[in-house]
Amino acid sequence: MGTKVKNTQTSLSLKEFHISEDCGFILPEPLTDLPVYYKPWMDIARNAPELISSHSLRLRIHDMPLLETHLLRTHRELRLAHLALSIMTSGYVWQEGERETVKVLPRNLSVPFCEVSQRLGLPPILIHADTVLANWKKRDPDGPFSMDNLELLLTLPGGESVRGFFLVTLLVELAAIPGLKSIPDVINGIHDNDVAVVTKALDVVGQAIDSMKQALKLMHEYVDPSIFYGIMRIYLSGWKDNPSMSEGLVYEGVQEKPMEFSGGSAAQSSILHCFDELLGVQHEGSSGAFLTRMRDYMPPSHKQFIEYISSHLSLRSFVLQQADEHLTHTFEQCVSRLVDFRNYHITIVTRYITIPASRAKQLRANQQCLAEELDMIRKAPTALEERGTGGSGIMTFLKTVRDKTKDTTITQCTNGNQVLPDVNKAASELTID
Ligand code: HEM
Repeated sequence: MGTKVKNTQTSLSLKEFHISEDCGFILPEPLTDLPVYYKPWMDIARNAPELISSHSLRLRIHDMPLLETHLLRTHRELRLAHLALSIMTSGYVWQEGERETVKVLPRNLSVPFCEVSQRLGLPPILIHADTVLANWKKRDPDGPFSMDNLELLLTLPGGESVRGFFLVTLLVELAAIPGLKSIPDVINGIHDNDVAVVTKALDVVGQAIDSMKQALKLMHEYVDPSIFYGIMRIYLSGWKDNPSMSEGLVYEGVQEKPMEFSGGSAAQSSILHCFDELLGVQHEGSSGAFLTRMRDYMPPSHKQFIEYISSHLSLRSFVLQQADEHLTHTFEQCVSRLVDFRNYHITIVTRYITIPASRAKQLRANQQCLAEELDMIRKAPTALEERGTGGSGIMTFLKTVRDKTKDTTITQCTNGNQVLPDVNKAASELTID
């Protein structure tokens, strides 16, 4: 009877959380167009980079009709509508850089955006679930998920680097899928007291984290740091904890009081939240609060999945209780790979934000640079110099999150004979020139 009860309790299926077997948290086969009634939105959203650079996006939005949203019927239609409206909103707010922002989002944009957002349970701002999870198309539908075979549906200023940034992040999400699919096996294995099943599933999680790191490395090949820092980053920014939008944004026709939302960031990806809950990583204080808040920027069913993992599982206690050498080693390796991923992510942030930020400061001070570079630096958001797009104080936050991951280890900081990499060394190896 015991077994029967356990099985009913643990018949966890990813499907009930709208997580796809093939695509994980990625929206399978996003629609590429909306019903013809929404052509005014799609025409603007498709031309956003050109309209922004010609300073005419705001004018086009002022002339846009106020459309009804009830003709959007399916989840995929709503997701494409959210993506299009969020791209328009970002362009509208940031068209003139951080100095000439707006206080009000006009009603023909804000009203439908808030309605669509409410139906999806998402905030009315550009988020990871838009730009990465619902913004892709395969050139050859039968071909692989590869950089050559993928394209974006909608984009922002920054050309090929924007494409690289969103699609490499999509590949990181893809690399995580085998690990995500193993989570139910870990949960079931613990309920069944089956050490072998848990060990095997955990090994798959560790390998997936390793593949995510390999995918993350592609960022260097596809994204130019000065374009990321000088052009792209502002369009991912939000109006919470952002000095250049300190009062937030009024969504006209929705509510008179300004609203505040964080900018888009892969901190809103559900993947690492799942792995943290699985391994029992405990984020506390302001870092923990930020990460918890980021869950409100995820599709609600994905957030529920993360909460399900945390409430149904203590893998760490199981590992300690079993005291099985192979299981313990696999658990440790998994934690170590997660630390390794976060260390690598820190070196990426150093290259794409910290170094360009210090170069920008230097150049602003002595003005010795090419006209083009100076122009890019002038436009780069100074309010975000020490901050991530989500509004966090970057390095302190990322290192705290990394250190909390390290604290989850059972034995101390070694992975077999392999000593964990020293992130400060890795970061200092990246020189400004
Ligand atoms: C050029 C590439 C990237 C840059 C510059 C970057 C930058 C940042 C920054 C500044 C933060 C701090 C939070 C915030 O302010 O939003 C952050 C957090 C985070 N990023 Fe990235 N990121 C990049 C790529 C990625 C990719 C591809 C992933 C993979 C999904 C990722 C996953 C995360 C996660 C999970 C967090 C939360 C902190 C953590 O859990 O360790 N990032 N990132």
